[in-house]
Amino acid sequence: MASLPLLCSQAVTETILITGISSGIGKALCLEYLRRGARVYAIGRSDLEPADVPERPNFIAQDLSQLEAIPAALDKLLCGVPTLDRVILNAGVLGPIRDLRDTPMHQLRAVMDLNTWANKAIVDSLVSLGVEFKQVIGISSGAAVSGNRGWNSYSLSKAAFLMLLRLYAAELPATHFCSLAPGLVDTAMQDYLCGLDREHAIRFPSVARIQGARGTINMPGPDELAPRLIAAFDTVRDQPSGAFIDIRKM
Ligand SMILES: NC(=O)c1ccc[n+]([C@@H]2O[C@H](COP(=O)([O-])OP(=O)(O)OC[C@H]3O[C@@H](n4cnc5c(N)ncnc54)[C@H](OP(=O)(O)O)[C@@H]3O)[C@@H](O)[C@H]2O)c1
Repeated sequence: MASLPLLCSQAVTETILITGISSGIGKALCLEYLRRGARVYAIGRSDLEPADVPERPNFIAQDLSQLEAIPAALDKLLCGVPTLDRVILNAGVLGPIRDLRDTPMHQLRAVMDLNTWANKAIVDSLVSLGVEFKQVIGISSGAAVSGNRGWNSYSLSKAAFLMLLRLYAAELPATHFCSLAPGLVDTAMQDYLCGLDREHAIRFPSVARIQGARGTINMPGPDELAPRLIAAFDTVRDQPSGAFIDIRKM
């Protein structure tokens, strides 16, 4: 676990826990929070590259698909942390775009483990550790509610994740929960989608729409999106706990 103290001259504005900081949205959020002087705790398979930023997050390496290992990893990471202002459940995988009937059970289970059940393990661990956590933001997706052809395990896992947070909202009234869809963001996930061939684009029309959005204002990069997301994390608190919110409609 790499951990260096923040510079004394920087005011620590808040304490956050975030999952999946090695690339894409999670990396951009982590860097932006560090720049703002937040105290960042992060868990995922890999840390930021050393050159990314002078300050470091408090990081613990953990494959979040290994559900049984999550409580001990969080115990180690958060030792002595009484309160988290925000928990950002970001780590996720897409899985192959293909019809549901062609998708084997083991693939559905693998995507569900990371995109849904790892998040249950995290919330439950925070409760058992006695850490106060004021807000939980699940990085959701339009796929949680759209049911587009081909999005099989991803759609199922994001729909279940949405309901997971809604159920916790009913159970844990002192914490504000929301599922926030960030819109299309130009990350590694888009490398896969935009690399799919013409046959896929014809069979799965949502893929063609995404391919057409790359390089336009409809698909910002994660660094551009991060400040907007951070602003949205405050705004969503006006909505009922457990709500699904699409940043494109805010
Ligand atoms: N990009 C979009 O257009 C878009 C749209 C809607 C929602 N989202 C959501 O945004 C979130 C971030 O995705 P992204 O677009 O930023 O993609 P990304 O660049 O692929 O980032 C995914 C992150 O999850 C981590 N991760 C993957 N498998 C993991 C595992 N088994 N254990 C721990 N960490 C793991 C990755 O780190 P390692 O590989 O180092 O483990 C990486 O940091 C996801 O939940 C995704 O569903 C993205």
